[in-house]
Amino acid sequence: MFKKFLAIAVIVAACYSCNNNETKSAGGETKDTTAAKPAEPAVAANPEAEKGKELIAGDNCLTCHKIDEAVTGPAYRDVANKYSNDDETVTKLANKIIKGGSGVWGQIAMTPHDTLSVDNARLMVKYILSLKNK
Ligand code: HEC
Repeated sequence: MFKKFLAIAVIVAACYSCNNNETKSAGGETKDTTAAKPAEPAVAANPEAEKGKELIAGDNCLTCHKIDEAVTGPAYRDVANKYSNDDETVTKLANKIIKGGSGVWGQIAMTPHDTLSVDNARLMVKYILSLKNK
């Protein structure tokens, strides 16, 4: 009878001390669960650019373009920094994407995207121009 009581007492003591340790270590750190995701203000604030980003991801653009690095085509950030963000530019670049062509960034040609609608090409351009940082 006494042995049984002792065994229970030991278990209880062990549990108590291990609980105690946990409380101590948990109290030592404060975890910030409200930490925000990396911000993408230009895109998040602009639903047209957000849509354009999705369209670009769903097309073949990223095989030749990266945001910050020239690959086959110019970096999108360089394109954004070269032009002013106005309606005329959006129309001009949208038509260039549809027709393809070369000569502005070098001798390599962009392939035509003639199944793309002007509206969708314009959304893509709006996303690209939203990357402007100059
Ligand atoms: C086969 C490779 C390739 C693909 C695919 C491609 N591009 Fe290009 N892109 C280029 C090249 C090369 C240039 C530079 C053309 C030049 O110098 O005139 C360019 C230029 C551009 C420009 C700048 C045009 C200018 O006159 O300044 C934009 C905007 C652009 N691409 C967007 C897109 C979008 C959006 C897509 C997807 C629908 C796309 N590209 C797909 C190769 C590509």
